[in-house]
Amino acid sequence: MALNRLALMTSLAGIELRHPLMNASGFLGYTREHVHRLASYGLSAIVTKTITPYAKEGYEPPIIVALRNGGLLNAVGLENPGKKCIAELVEEARKINVPLIISVGGRNEEEFVEVAIEAEENSATAIELNLSCPHTKGYGLEIGSDPNNVFSVVKAVASVTRIPVIAKLGLSDRVVESAGKALEAGAKGLTLINTVKAMAIDVHTLKPILTNIFGGLSGPPIHPIAVRVVYEVFKEYRSEIIGCGGVSSWIDAAEFIAAGAKAVQVGTALALANNPQDLVSNILQGLQHWLELHGYKVVEEAVGSAHRV
Ligand SMILES: Cc1cc2nc3c(=O)[nH]c(=O)nc-3n(C[C@H](O)[C@H](O)[C@H](O)COP(=O)(O)O)c2cc1C
Repeated sequence: MALNRLALMTSLAGIELRHPLMNASGFLGYTREHVHRLASYGLSAIVTKTITPYAKEGYEPPIIVALRNGGLLNAVGLENPGKKCIAELVEEARKINVPLIISVGGRNEEEFVEVAIEAEENSATAIELNLSCPHTKGYGLEIGSDPNNVFSVVKAVASVTRIPVIAKLGLSDRVVESAGKALEAGAKGLTLINTVKAMAIDVHTLKPILTNIFGGLSGPPIHPIAVRVVYEVFKEYRSEIIGCGGVSSWIDAAEFIAAGAKAVQVGTALALANNPQDLVSNILQGLQHWLELHGYKVVEEAVGSAHRV
């Protein structure tokens, strides 16, 4: 089935997208070569690995484990080359004409602002604030689980940048409230959700498998949780949402769209795919077929459709 480009077009936080599928942060995305590789998969936008002001080392291995339930558990530790890599990533993405979203990380407002300014000065397409990594001390969810912190980081970044700010939130009891705070502070979009804090134990050695003990669970096991969060946040605010968590087929992507997402990120499935190009193309073909079945001419007509039944 040929792709109907017009039907699949969408937009998020003012960014025009050829179709709804982009990669989730953390899967490649911190070298020029990564930008090329991700673009070759046919994604509509590329999200970088989370970038902190200075190069950051990761944890000692094992940092990632494949689970029996199809999920991955990781504690990479936000390893990245620091903000100096942003210029070349933007330059590379511009050469091949693909929108580039810089995932920004930090331990406090000042660090988030520092990386965001670098993204802005290099004319990146947008910024995704990682307020949600569940396993890196001082970063991510340690900041993002408190709605007031979400407000102040988003506000600080949104007030110094003109490019769109997207807040990536993780699972917490107050995620719906945090989403509201992010929007109030100036976020133009929300990515929901990050990995979910989890652990695995080796029953032979009786030790936690990850050196960091705790990690972030991703892949199919978290999908229903992510769908629930997207549904609740959309119901409350009708905001622009990127659904993220456990997408491995068109059905998962369609579920996110029906729950209220305008775009969808794929992480674990992309990393585990034998052929990432086929994965992307199969999801898009399935989505197109689903739109046709329901008589929707464009993706946007399907966004939030589960709220209308
Ligand atoms: C190995 C690995 C590294 C990740 N690194 C990042 C990261 O740097 N920044 C971030 O915001 N999320 C990171 N994530 C989380 C993903 O972006 C995504 O939110 C999560 O994996 C759920 O999507 P999935 O089930 O499609 O993988 C990482 C996930 C994995 C498995």
